[in-house]
Amino acid sequence: MSKNIHEDCKDVILTEEEIQETVDRLGSNITDQFSSDEVLLVGVLRGSVVFMSDLMRSIDLDLEIDFLAVGSYGDSTKSSGVVRVHKDLDEDIEGRTVLLVEDIVDTGLTLNFLLGYLESRNPADLYTCSLLDKPARREVEVDVDLIGEKVPDEFLVGYGLDYGQKYRNLPYIAKLKDEVISND
Ligand code: IMP
Ligand code: MG
Repeated sequence: MSKNIHEDCKDVILTEEEIQETVDRLGSNITDQFSSDEVLLVGVLRGSVVFMSDLMRSIDLDLEIDFLAVGSYGDSTKSSGVVRVHKDLDEDIEGRTVLLVEDIVDTGLTLNFLLGYLESRNPADLYTCSLLDKPARREVEVDVDLIGEKVPDEFLVGYGLDYGQKYRNLPYIAKLKDEVISND
């Protein structure tokens, strides 16, 4: 299985194979649910980029993709609660079927903000898909239509998830060791 786990990580939560199974399941669900619509996948940079690239290839439909970049985390593990858009969409989403693609829903503040932000542009339909869900930390109630896996209240890295912009390239998702996380 996972041969060389990164020295800053402790337990692997999801192996490469488990992630692939989860992504395939989500892709099939999306293929079934959206069969009559031309869907625009909107990935939230930078965390969702690895998930997005696998997810789109597991969807057997005509689709388009776009990205926006938001920030709230800085380089720490705590959300500041203030979400800012660093890069906006390139596409006009008015009248379109949009599926927002996130890496993880934690406090829910980012997704809650993004839903309001996108809704104001009058899409025909707006759905959400997140690879991971950390329900224990939720601060605002937010509707996630498709969830890959529920995860425990631990800081995770890999498969797009970072700590201080590092570890996004790990092919698995693992818990970060406590001593690596700085107490700022
Ligand atoms: P929320 O606004 O608190 O729901 O946080 C959403 C964003 O915080 C996610 O899109 C991630 O970029 C980041 N995030 C939340 N939990 C983790 C984690 O365990 N590891 C890495 N990034 C995380
Ligand atoms: Mg993110």
